Amino acid sequence: MADLTRVSISLESTLLSEFDKHIAGKGYDTRSEAIRDLIRELLVRDTSRKAEGDQVAVVTLVYDHHARELAARLIDKQHHHHELVISSMHVHLGERHCLEVSILRGAGKEVTHLGNALIATKGVLHGEITFTSGEKGLNKWRS
Ligand code: NI
Repeated sequence: MADLTRVSISLESTLLSEFDKHIAGKGYDTRSEAIRDLIRELLVRDTSRKAEGDQVAVVTLVYDHHARELAARLIDKQHHHHELVISSMHVHLGERHCLEVSILRGAGKEVTHLGNALIATKGVLHGEITFTSGEKGLNKWRS
């Protein structure tokens, strides 16, 4: 790794011990890698929503397909912004519920707007927008 800077931080010992247990449970070998991932996650989450250009997000929706015209309304919204929708996957969870996962790509504001519109559609039971980053975003923070 190039251009590394060593930093020292002060933490309560109980907080550090909880952190160490937590990251060991997740399979991290070192605190440094866990902290780098936390920082990248914070930066991606807080900057992607507002950033222009090549932002990428995963939108998860759970809905009842018996809800009147709901599936059609969700499809209409995605067709209306077809340039933002890279791919969608539909899973029938059971007799009633469907899980739909869509990957959106575009300017942060537009991706957020469409994701929120899908989640706010009447009858959607649970929804979440998770931003990751386009090629450029993560390259900025690599060593
Ligand atoms: Ni289904």
